[in-house]
Amino acid sequence: MLECKSLVDINFKDKVAIVRVDFNVPLKNNLKISDTTRIDNGVKSIKYVLKNKGKCVIMSHLGRPKGKGYEKKFSLENIISYLEKIFKIKIPLIRNYYSYDFSIEKYLEKNDIILLENLRFYPEEKSNNKNFAKTLASFADVYINDAFGTCHRSHASTNSIINHIKESCVGLLVDKELKNINQLFYNNNPPFTAILGGSKVSDKIGVIEKLIKVVDNILIGGAMANTFIRYLGGNIGNSIYEKDKLGIAGKLLNQAKEKKVNILLPIDFVCSNSINKIDKTIISNSFSVPAKLSGYDIGDETIKSFTSIIAKSKTIIWNGPLGVFEVNEFSEGTFKVADAISKSTINGAYSLVGGGDSVAAINKNNNYKNISFISTGGGALLEYIAKGSLPSLKLLKL
Ligand code: 3PG
Repeated sequence: MLECKSLVDINFKDKVAIVRVDFNVPLKNNLKISDTTRIDNGVKSIKYVLKNKGKCVIMSHLGRPKGKGYEKKFSLENIISYLEKIFKIKIPLIRNYYSYDFSIEKYLEKNDIILLENLRFYPEEKSNNKNFAKTLASFADVYINDAFGTCHRSHASTNSIINHIKESCVGLLVDKELKNINQLFYNNNPPFTAILGGSKVSDKIGVIEKLIKVVDNILIGGAMANTFIRYLGGNIGNSIYEKDKLGIAGKLLNQAKEKKVNILLPIDFVCSNSINKIDKTIISNSFSVPAKLSGYDIGDETIKSFTSIIAKSKTIIWNGPLGVFEVNEFSEGTFKVADAISKSTINGAYSLVGGGDSVAAINKNNNYKNISFISTGGGALLEYIAKGSLPSLKLLKL
């Protein structure tokens, strides 16, 4: 179980903290934030430092820019007014901070918080460049990693910086993420059910192997279910699957059988010829999808079976949608599962939901209020579950 040095053990009086946050929030076409969850959860450590008489240099990435300088749609100028609203102060956005004659002092003299422009505008961030990390470290006395969603990346701001600064710790958000995920694996009540969706088995091999050791049920939906059904000899019509992962699917099914873990695959699918131009939808048995059609959502029988297991579960983890939930016709499975997790939690289960799509589905129907813990991690959550650690957090171990 990974435990890291926490910011509550540090005295911030008259110190500057450089805080790595994950403000990688989704933006609409007009570049306004469409879901502020990551910022709302990520500001708590900054508030803590200010309350304890310190100052903050905030740094984050946003999206996946080319790494060749400024790009409007990835600029943190798109989120700064939301931050200013939260803190009720003006926050300067600092560009060109990685240059020979840059000095941060004049900004820190006048401001309690400053924000560095998107780290990924510099290629040195992703290459974990030592000099870039040294520059970031030179801006502060203490380093706080509160970017759980990015902790599976070994970048300059999450990794190398730790070697160049006196004091380092994790922030309140990372601390809470670790406590909740640890509770799930080391202190859970049975029956423990995992619900996995999304398109690829290959993204989740390590996670499934780990889950098989601790859960009672694994409910599989989304396109990744097709690879298992195909392995078992089903006809999946035109549905996508991973041909080169059929062997892995078989291996996982065997591992589950040995450990007496129930793996439940969809019984039926909502099928169509396309997700864009939908002529009509039909319900098909999941092992005999008509040749020209694809399964895009779990059908009613599957929903019934999955939700009845969720209702009896005392511990639940969910990652990945059960169908193409952005399209109305294929959204029911995902939303019914979200409702079932929410109800089961109201009835006393502990639930953890992670991954952008599952969290979006939970938020859409206001179910988020009933979930025990919503993780801000997608890839980071899966890697932490699979490996029990994350590259950037290893360096901050107690
Ligand atoms: C995420 O959205 O999962 C994190 O912000 C990490 O982003 P990345 O996958 O672009 O590194």
